[in-house]
Order: sequence, then structure tokens, then C-alpha cells
Amino acid sequence: MIPASIRSKRIEYAIRDVVVPAKELEKKGIEVLKLNIGDPIKYDFKTPEHIRKAAAEAVMNSRSEYSPSEGLLELREAIVDKEKGYGVDITTDDIVVTTGVTEALMLIFAAALDPGQEILVPGPTYPPYITYPTFYDGIPKTYRTVEEDGWHPDPDDIRKKISRKTKAIAVINPNNPTGAYYDERIIREIADIAAENDIFMISDEIYDKMLYDNEFVSPAKIAKDVPMIILNGISKVYLAPGWRIGYLAIRDVDGKLEDIRDGIMRQARARLCANTPLQLGYLAALKGPQDHIKKTMDKLRERRDYVAKRVAEIDGLSVVPPKGAFYMFIKVDGCRDDKKFVLELLREKHVLTVHGSGFCPIYGKGHFRIVNLPPVEYLEEAFNRIEEFMKERKNI
Ligand SMILES: Cc1ncc(COP(=O)(O)O)c(C=O)c1O
Repeated sequence: MIPASIRSKRIEYAIRDVVVPAKELEKKGIEVLKLNIGDPIKYDFKTPEHIRKAAAEAVMNSRSEYSPSEGLLELREAIVDKEKGYGVDITTDDIVVTTGVTEALMLIFAAALDPGQEILVPGPTYPPYITYPTFYDGIPKTYRTVEEDGWHPDPDDIRKKISRKTKAIAVINPNNPTGAYYDERIIREIADIAAENDIFMISDEIYDKMLYDNEFVSPAKIAKDVPMIILNGISKVYLAPGWRIGYLAIRDVDGKLEDIRDGIMRQARARLCANTPLQLGYLAALKGPQDHIKKTMDKLRERRDYVAKRVAEIDGLSVVPPKGAFYMFIKVDGCRDDKKFVLELLREKHVLTVHGSGFCPIYGKGHFRIVNLPPVEYLEEAFNRIEEFMKERKNI
């Protein structure tokens, strides 16, 4: 056997550990109820028609050229306008259109981290915030977010974990997997820590318009004094995760991000560009009607409220109702092994969820994550089974 690189072997994707046994059950003809996938299209949501049409037209008009590495100018102009709407001042030169936020994370971590350098990420977190810093020989450190405080970050823990090797603090707001929303006060506190330590912030805003009650306030507006890289894309708000289009926007202060910008741009050129016709789809999404968002949120609200009610009725489970996104991070009282819990729930009741420790072994353990994306009837059947499982629960 010709060995793969050590670096590639460091990549772990905990979520896969539960998908493989689910597929085995399906191979045997067993229907598995899936509450694990953060993809609205897998349930009863559709990419809005005008966005699909724009992408189809771009393909039919043979917009098959390579775009500039940083993305089509007209799309970057639309992104500048979008960010202006949040009070964020950037230019088209500050933007790189990427193959989703996930590629943007790869570009940023590869540009920012030398071996042994650190990045602070929320605990629990979206797994690539752990995977990619590690892949690039850096060290991701999770800072505590506090369940009893609506899963808000603990600034004292952030302060404790900053070292001379720390390059950046990431915030994911609204958050995956907890659905927390950080208000202006918390963002300001984190920004103060970044400013005191002369490091930059990464602001993942992929769920920005998916708030149930609040109006999104951009961290870049709150913290004008802190260099920041903003991330967003088409996947969630515009219901097109498989299109793989997103962006990073460098909101610099006093040229502090110049070198990292150069590191990002070099990589962006080396990988040519993001998908051209689907950039035009994203342009239509940003410029066109936005009314699907309210409809999406109305459905998600009903589903969130249903799950919150069911969880409250089940002995041994509790959940902080999310303020945004479409995840619910459910606590299992006295759970000693959340992965085993999730695997048993799958084996015995054929309901697929994701173990909390897959999002952070320290701050995620004892929990499981579900999506409140499926219709209520689907959730009802899933929670009937979860309720039975909890009644019969063994010592897990
Ligand atoms: C916080 C967060 N950022 C980014 C992504 C993925 O974004 P993209 O599809 O643009 O790569 C996800 C997907 O679940 C996410 O939860």
C-alpha cells in the first residue's frame, strides 16, 4: 500500500461516524428518520425560482468562462451593497468569492497559521473550525459557551485561552450547533479582547437572516476598531447549499491584515475561481426578492416550537430554544457517552441525530444535535421514538 500523508490522516469528521451505521441500516431496507443534516433541500424547502432561473440562464448563455479569481465584479459589487446595508464599509477589492464558506475557512487558516499557532473557536462549533486549523499544522482551541446563559461565550475563558501564539478569534453568529445569537454587548466584549491582544476576528454570518426574533447586527459594525474577516454565502439563507458559493470579506484596520490578505489572494489565484454560472445565481439571490426568507423562518419557527414542547415533556431531556439557524442542541441528563447514546438511538429506534462531542469533546458532550428542518409530522414520529427510547433508556 502506498501511504497517504500524515496530514490527511489527521482529518476527522465525527459526523461521519454516525452516518455510516445509518447507511448500513438503510441497505437492509430499514427507514431511518434523519434529523442530522443541515441541508434544507433534503426536507421541504426549495431554492427560490428566480435564483434557479438566473443560474440556468447563465449556463444557457454559456457563462462557462473562468471568472476572476476573486469573483465576478458584479457579484462583488452586490456583496459590497449587502455589507453596506449592515453598516460595513468595504470595497470590491476586499472580497474573494469562494466555493462556499468552507473553502474560505481553508484559505484563511492556511494563510494565517504557521505550525503551532492558535485560533480560538467557539465550543461547540461547526467542525471545519477544528479540522482545517489542524490540517494546516495550527492549533484550534475551543472557548467555552455557556448553556445556562443561552450558549453565550464566556469572555473570561477567552481571556484565559489567549496566548502569544493566538492569531484570531472566530465567532459564529447565529451559531451552529446551538442556535445562539450573540448580542452587541457580547460581541463588543470579544472585540475588546481581540483589540487588546492585537489579533483579528473571523465572523461567520452564514445564518445572518435566519433569526427568529432579532435583527442581525454585524460584528464588523460593532467593532470598527478590530480587523475582521466576514464570511457568508448562498447555502442557508438562499437555500442552495449544493451550489457551493460563498465569500470572505476582509474588513481591515490600519493595514493589519495586508499580509494575510496577500496569503489568501495567492491561494485564490492558485485555485483559479469559484463556479462562474452559480456566482450569477448568487447575484440574483442578493439582488432579487427576499420574501422567501420570512416564509422559511415561519416554517422553522413552528418546527422549533414543536420540538421545544416535545423536549420539555420528555424526562431527562432539555434544550435552550435557539434564537436562529435551524439546529437544536439537546441536553441528556446524566449522559456519560453521547456518541453511544446517538448510536443506540439509531440502532434501536432508527432516528439519526449527531452526538454533541462531535462539535466539541469538552463543551458539546452530553448533548445531541437535531435539525428543526423537517415538517411537524416527521418531527412528531421522530420524537415519539425518542420519547420511547428515553423511557427504556439504559445506563448510557
Ligand atoms: C457555521 C457554518 N459555517 C459554514 C457552513 C457551510 O457553509 P458553506 O456551505 O458556504 O461551505 C455551515 C454549514 O453547516 C455552518 O454551519
